[in-house]
Amino acid sequence: MKTALLGSKDTINKLMALLLVFGLIFGAFPIIPGQATADANENIKVVINGKAAKFDVAPKSIQGTTLVPFRGVAENLGGKAVWEEKSRSVTVTKGSIVLKLTIGSKTAYINGEKTSLAVAPQLVNNRTLVPLRFISEGFGYDVNWNGTTKTVTISEKKNTPVKKGGIVNIYTSRHYGVEPVFAEFTKETGIKVRFTTGGDAVLRERLKAEGKNTPADIYMAVDAGNLWLAAQDGLLQSVNSTTLKNNVPENVRDDKNRWFGFTKRVRTIMYNPAKVKASEVTSYEDLADPKWKGKLILRPGTHVYNQSLVANLIATYGPEKTEKILKGWMANEPKFIDSDSRILETLAAGGGDVAITNHYYLGRLVEKDSSFPIKVQWADQDGKGVHANISGAGVTTHAENKENAIILLEWLSSPKGQKLFADTNHEYPTNPNVAPHEVIAKFGKFKEDSLDKGEFGRLQAEAVKLMEKVGYK
Ligand SMILES: [Fe+2]
Repeated sequence: MKTALLGSKDTINKLMALLLVFGLIFGAFPIIPGQATADANENIKVVINGKAAKFDVAPKSIQGTTLVPFRGVAENLGGKAVWEEKSRSVTVTKGSIVLKLTIGSKTAYINGEKTSLAVAPQLVNNRTLVPLRFISEGFGYDVNWNGTTKTVTISEKKNTPVKKGGIVNIYTSRHYGVEPVFAEFTKETGIKVRFTTGGDAVLRERLKAEGKNTPADIYMAVDAGNLWLAAQDGLLQSVNSTTLKNNVPENVRDDKNRWFGFTKRVRTIMYNPAKVKASEVTSYEDLADPKWKGKLILRPGTHVYNQSLVANLIATYGPEKTEKILKGWMANEPKFIDSDSRILETLAAGGGDVAITNHYYLGRLVEKDSSFPIKVQWADQDGKGVHANISGAGVTTHAENKENAIILLEWLSSPKGQKLFADTNHEYPTNPNVAPHEVIAKFGKFKEDSLDKGEFGRLQAEAVKLMEKVGYK
């Protein structure tokens, strides 16, 4: 090797530093003597999901890191890649995952979060080569290297959590059918789940009061606004999990990864088809029509479900039009009932014609009695889409069992966890690869407002003020 002829280590280090500077200035990274020998670079094979991947420039090994052309790896993994000449950077995306790398820089970004690379992307034969492992793991794949056969094997992550044992403590306002879900989790992982139930806001206040002494590792809520407020109050910590980023779409999780939505609950129009035509109630605004005077049933404005709905209306229509809609609802002198189930039963008994409730309450009633006479109407299909809230969770700032808490959240986002968690309450899984329960699948497809759910928290105070102003109590 050349380095053996150069004398002291100091001289070698200086020479290496010079070469590095040369590389950064001229863009093309030099092949460092003794590290990227012809031998190391011969015939590196890349196998993705059992198939040999082809690249227009052969993979290179530099300082033990395999580099491949960025476009080739992105496409082989089912993603997309964009090159930006000005910043000499590469952006590769797959679903909601966004990875950004720059030629000559060891700093890279995963969904905007800084991370460092062992070897910087570089130009070779006019192609930008990027670290294969960084892109593959960033997209949520497992990466294995076999030194004997010089093969990199990339495969889908298996969704079976490791048996670990230990415990995880949860504060949850979600109480419908959580026991069987947690029992299954314990069976698979050995991690015991202890949970305490209460209202979203009550549990948040409790976390605040307990501070560092809280026993809770996870805060689980049934409203995005409350999750947003918990994060805002510093009660939740950022979780860096590729599994969660892959499984949970961006608009149903916090931009700083402090909470993740696991199920969706659609708050929409319910009507009695014996008295109302579906075409009469296509939007939330339609319920402001004077023809529904004395025929509208609503849950009180103090309930967070309605506060988030109004926050969503403000985001869609602006405060002025939202005020007009709410004034119209109030002018119809609605009957207030503080239970979505009872609202639906009242509709069925003829105590009103139209109402707004969450979809799963109808799901429960229809499952018990397939002839239950009330129908669901997906609101605002000609506009931005129907309002969907979430139930979700985050790891508390002072979690003692942080690792177990993350394992539980990841499991809840996996196909198995999703199916159990969503189905026990007839909600829609947030993981787009998981199908909804057959009872609610029969409600038909709908367009959902794609608004970032964090907006329900950001706009909550304004929504409450507006509701008070129009007398929606
Ligand atoms: Fe509910």
